Amino acid sequence: MDILAQAKTLSQQGKIVYHMEVGEPDFATAQCIVDAGIDALKNLKTHYTPATGLLELRKAIAEYYDRRFSVKVDPRRVVITPGASGAIQLAISCLLDAGDNILLADPGYPCNKNTAQVLAVQSKNIPVNKESCYQLDAAIVKKYWDENTRAVMVATPSNPTGTLLPKKQLKELHQQVEQNKGVLIVDEIYQGLVYDGEDYTALEISDRCVVINSFSKYFGMTGWRVGWMVVPEDCVDAIDRIAQNIFLAPSTVSQYAALTALKESTRPVLDERRDEFKKRRDFLLPALKQLGFKVNANPQGAFYIYANCESFTDDSFIWVKQLLHKQGVALTPGIDFGSHLANKHCRFAYAQPLEILEQVVDKIDTFIKR
Ligand SMILES: Cc1ncc(COP(=O)(O)O)c(C=O)c1O
Repeated sequence: MDILAQAKTLSQQGKIVYHMEVGEPDFATAQCIVDAGIDALKNLKTHYTPATGLLELRKAIAEYYDRRFSVKVDPRRVVITPGASGAIQLAISCLLDAGDNILLADPGYPCNKNTAQVLAVQSKNIPVNKESCYQLDAAIVKKYWDENTRAVMVATPSNPTGTLLPKKQLKELHQQVEQNKGVLIVDEIYQGLVYDGEDYTALEISDRCVVINSFSKYFGMTGWRVGWMVVPEDCVDAIDRIAQNIFLAPSTVSQYAALTALKESTRPVLDERRDEFKKRRDFLLPALKQLGFKVNANPQGAFYIYANCESFTDDSFIWVKQLLHKQGVALTPGIDFGSHLANKHCRFAYAQPLEILEQVVDKIDTFIKR
């Protein structure tokens, strides 16, 4: 956030800033989705929906799982939320009490531990490395589980590393969590943006885990604030009551637009964007290695590369600030994602066109040489 604020200030001063720190697609929402939102407003769809969302959208999401992954989901288990952020808040509120703890990967998505903290839940942020694909696994969970642990949360593909949790690893992880009588929460927000490896859903493995997803990333709807979660049958009522109190309901117009996002006829434009992200990764990854970054976390999805910059600095936060001020390139320092080897890492978000990425590589080259 500090870097983002500085980058914004520099932009306002008229300086050119290359925004490689922003975690959202650069593409605007697809026109057919925007049109569906406009139609919803024209048809005065301006009232509250149920707290768990429009039944029509819950059914469309269940059909989506069937179509894409051959998984049958009861639409009653699908809850529409204000983005994945709303789902994370609901999941932690529902599954954990004050004083309980949740196991998270370090590096990982920073809002998980912050949301836990707001809810008086402790997070145990566990260092992860190449050996477990920068993800948690069954052995790690077994080692770190204690009498106050109630849940484990993972994201596949991960932010900041873009690594996938291999299906076998997730299966074993789930078994371990079940054995410990806890709940596994799987954040699949980057589903659809997978370039190597299997794009699957944890629902293929179990209907006992909580799956979080969103229209923000693959569907390109960050600003619409709409996402969803699939929860075990016995959590639906509790989630419904918490949602009624915290959010009342997700945005009505966004839910109507989301119905169009899920249509098969929208898929080609979304897949075209996914292919564009892959092209960018295929350019940026070797280019960064050529510059002298080490990338141990193999980025298979999302739009991030978590690069080791220890050849240039032993404090990535300072280095990132200098890079911004000297060359106008904004990155996210490792410290944002945890403390494990954070000062040796920075995150590149390749949510920028190829020609910008080429300029970024040149700018960093100049910066390093100087
Ligand atoms: C791993 C992960 N989960 C959840 C979110 C929240 O997304 P949203 O609330 O826009 O759906 C993000 C956003 O960057 C993320 O990276």
